[in-house]
Amino acid sequence: MTTATARAYPNIALVKYWGKQDEDLILPVAGSLSLTLDAFPTTTTVALDAATGTGTNTGIDTFSLNGAVASTDATGRVTRFLDRVRELAGSETRATVTSTNEAPTGAGLASSASGFAALATAAAAAYGLDLDRRDLSRLARRGSGSASRSLVDGLAVWHAGDDAHSYAEAVAGPDMRMVIVTVDTAQKAVSSRAAMRRTALTSPFFPAWISSTEESLAAMLEACAADDFTRVGRITESHALRMHAVIQSCDPPIRYLAPTSVAVFDAVAALREQGLEAYSTADAGPNVAVIVRPEQAEDLRDALAGFGSVRLVGAGDGARLIDAG
Ligand code: DP6
Repeated sequence: MTTATARAYPNIALVKYWGKQDEDLILPVAGSLSLTLDAFPTTTTVALDAATGTGTNTGIDTFSLNGAVASTDATGRVTRFLDRVRELAGSETRATVTSTNEAPTGAGLASSASGFAALATAAAAAYGLDLDRRDLSRLARRGSGSASRSLVDGLAVWHAGDDAHSYAEAVAGPDMRMVIVTVDTAQKAVSSRAAMRRTALTSPFFPAWISSTEESLAAMLEACAADDFTRVGRITESHALRMHAVIQSCDPPIRYLAPTSVAVFDAVAALREQGLEAYSTADAGPNVAVIVRPEQAEDLRDALAGFGSVRLVGAGDGARLIDAG
């Protein structure tokens, strides 16, 4: 097979990944848990270039995103990822990668997660690798840690551990919806990769962050197994605020939450007092994702509409090959 197309969706973590124990292999300091969404897909085609007369192709990979040639940085990241795939496949053939991403620009919807999940799935097929979902999750992890979780339908736990054991797999849990509140579409000043590194190197609280994440994940897995939405929500919100606390404690400090983000957290807490049970989280940016029971999802969306653009989403599928051949 020399051409393959895959589609993947972003995921939002309820127990966050923040910090690596191995930057090359992208092994996290602790496990995490996320919900794969049913909106904002990335669709990626990998087409292997025709072999040259010598049987290998010494050209370069090309990468276009949403119809435009991607930046040198983005193309370099794709090439480094494809080098890993070529190593596994024993191939030197270069590829043309064409990707479209339906997430609104700057909405902070983890496009690297859907991006590398789709790329891993399409590239593995194009280069003829026969990988199961677990190995595809391990492969996607090498592009971006959170991408390992976008291989999985719905709720996914990504295990910390060595290369062989650090993959994501499905967990059962309460049925829920998420309202994404986009309060600001500006590009973040510090990338999550750089901020993660700075936190690990300079925050005096980083060791406590690691142990508290391990505890939060164990509690979250229990709450999911018990189908306990309230407990899932409480852990989600407190863990998100702990992540932002450890990020703010690095040197020089980084603050991702904007005043409006904090206002959304406060509004959600006030809604809980009125019987609308919802809980907030936020990634490395100002936008807020709020989980809610399905039957209260539309009320929540309407209640948060004043804070920015709102979008109601549900649980979606892990990355899938949609065309091969
Ligand atoms: C705040 O997966 O983008 O969204 O592994 O360096 O590519 P790299 O980082 P990335 O980090 C995601 C951080 C987060 C939390 C999460 O998704 O768990």
